[in-house]
Amino acid sequence: MATNRTFTMIKPEAVAAGNAGKIIDMIIEAGFKVKAMKLRHLTKEEAGKFYEVHAERPFYGELVDYMSGGPIVAAILEKENAVADFRALIGATDPAEAAEGTIRKQFATSKAENAVHGSDSDENAEIESNFHFSAEEIVG
Ligand code: RTP
Ligand code: MG
Repeated sequence: MATNRTFTMIKPEAVAAGNAGKIIDMIIEAGFKVKAMKLRHLTKEEAGKFYEVHAERPFYGELVDYMSGGPIVAAILEKENAVADFRALIGATDPAEAAEGTIRKQFATSKAENAVHGSDSDENAEIESNFHFSAEEIVG
């Protein structure tokens, strides 16, 4: 089931800038089907738990403040090879290194504030999807 699904968030600065619709358009144009979607303002605790894997990194505090600083759009996306194809669509973490045509190249403002999240494995896609959505919020 999870092998053709990934999880994304449109991050707070991109939502605040009014870019959520354009980003969703790019995602759909690239062949992804939206299986679940919601607008949410994460608490600090939720943002901290979501990015727990980075707890020891120097940017963790800044990351938690950023991700809880305004509403995000969370979504589950389906496509063949969803995780890798979505990482290709969003581009490198640092927009300065992101390829032309990628979402981060177009919308990210810095390495820290980089417009979108994309799961990095099938396993994490499932964990992250379950973090944000209950079974009845996901369409069949
Ligand atoms: P993401 O998990 O959000 O899809 O991003 P990613 O895999 O491309 O990058 P990752 O290494 O997982 O980092 C998670 C998020 O932390 C912020 N970050 N800031 N200031 C910095 O040097 C720095 N490095 C990473 C970014 O928001 C990054 O997306
Ligand atoms: Mg990551």
